Amino acid sequence: MSFDDELFKCVLETAREFENNLKTGPVVPPQDAIDALGEFNEAMPKGKTDALDVIKQLKRLGNPAATLSRSGRFFGFVVGGTLPVTVAADWLTSTWDQNSGLTMLGYVNAKLEQVAQRWIIELLSLPQGTAVGYVTGATMAGFTALSSARTRIYKNLGYDLKVGGLRRAPKIRFIISEDIHATNIRALNYMGYGTEDFEFVPVDDQGRMRLEKMPVLDNSCIILAQAGNINSGAFDDFPEICARARKAGAWVHIDGAFGGWIKVSPSRGHLGEGMELADSWSIDCHKWLNVPYDSAIAICRDREAMLETFTISASYLTTEGERIPNNFTPELSRRARGIDVWAALKHLGREGFGELIDRCCDHASWFSGELQKIGFIIMNDVVINQIVFCLNDNDDLRLKKIMDHVAASGKTWFGPTHWQGRNVYRMSISSHETTRADLEIALGAIKDAINAVGG
Ligand SMILES: Cc1ncc(COP(=O)(O)O)c(C=O)c1O
Repeated sequence: MSFDDELFKCVLETAREFENNLKTGPVVPPQDAIDALGEFNEAMPKGKTDALDVIKQLKRLGNPAATLSRSGRFFGFVVGGTLPVTVAADWLTSTWDQNSGLTMLGYVNAKLEQVAQRWIIELLSLPQGTAVGYVTGATMAGFTALSSARTRIYKNLGYDLKVGGLRRAPKIRFIISEDIHATNIRALNYMGYGTEDFEFVPVDDQGRMRLEKMPVLDNSCIILAQAGNINSGAFDDFPEICARARKAGAWVHIDGAFGGWIKVSPSRGHLGEGMELADSWSIDCHKWLNVPYDSAIAICRDREAMLETFTISASYLTTEGERIPNNFTPELSRRARGIDVWAALKHLGREGFGELIDRCCDHASWFSGELQKIGFIIMNDVVINQIVFCLNDNDDLRLKKIMDHVAASGKTWFGPTHWQGRNVYRMSISSHETTRADLEIALGAIKDAINAVGG
């Protein structure tokens, strides 16, 4: 088996074909391309298939059926995009096939995790000594950071979880924004906690915790706040939350899956004021940093708590090196994710990353103004890259018909959501590919749909 030219020529051709499609192709694949995936339903092959034929099958069936979520015209969910440099770095990562669990199995990764950690600490104004673990997504980043949090909280309460286990553990009170992203609740479920452990804090009309409703804190509390509400993009009042927590000996975790990067923005960095006062943070790299899936960082001020939670020791595991990557994440073997995170940061620099974030926010600001001109209400304060909108005649059925028409055009895509008791739509701009021309195409598709659906 070798890395022959034909195979990689075919990959490059496939990538080029996909790239061409990105500009003009339907953002959601046509039904016939989805149906054609049925051709994959073959019996398990008895013998070998030539590698080139395998890739050709992916080219023929996979390329037309790929959702163009990284394109500049896809505004559903919060999906980010992919910088070419990160795809290239990702390819090398696979070629090297480094096991990033141990330093000696991946010197490049261990070094770049360390360098990227230093840069991230600097970008987000975090204290020196803060630890960064490279995980699959914000869900796992939350799990990783919150697991470290509970190690520390139990320790403070005089309990060692590794010895006593959960059944005999003292109670931890989880103080949670009522509008927290659902994945945080799931992470706590994975950790063994349930509804009876949670105290939800009501939120205001932007999804920010109402601090006058926050319960009295003590040193058994872990607070879950948000930098970038999944719908509105709003930020909790971190200085006040962190001040109260500090006084009580509680821990503050911030879910900043996309908004966690806001400090890098020259124009909107102030929204993240006080984030640095928290104890842990979960941030996706596959969203606003535009790194390919799957990539996120779990960040913990309390390095010792993280190390105590995740370090795996065994007689055969070597412990050489400045940084042993597996000590910061739940997995032993895993993809060397530090490499493409480093590549994105190196390529963009602070200025390029800040410009990317600002551009997305400016696009959102412009687009929300255009939506208002053609009969929509903007239901959130457009503070960053998120717009929540509905029709100003409150006709939700007509809204759905319009947005279904938009989706069917293949020109662009907006996701439905629920906000303040209403069925509404949401736009998220987080791909480096989005240009004003893409926004004009999206706006045109909405205008066409309004005309087609009528009043
Ligand atoms: C605010 C927030 N938190 C957590 C998540 C979960 O992130 P992931 O899908 O990377 O696990 C998301 C994903 O959209 C999010 O927007």
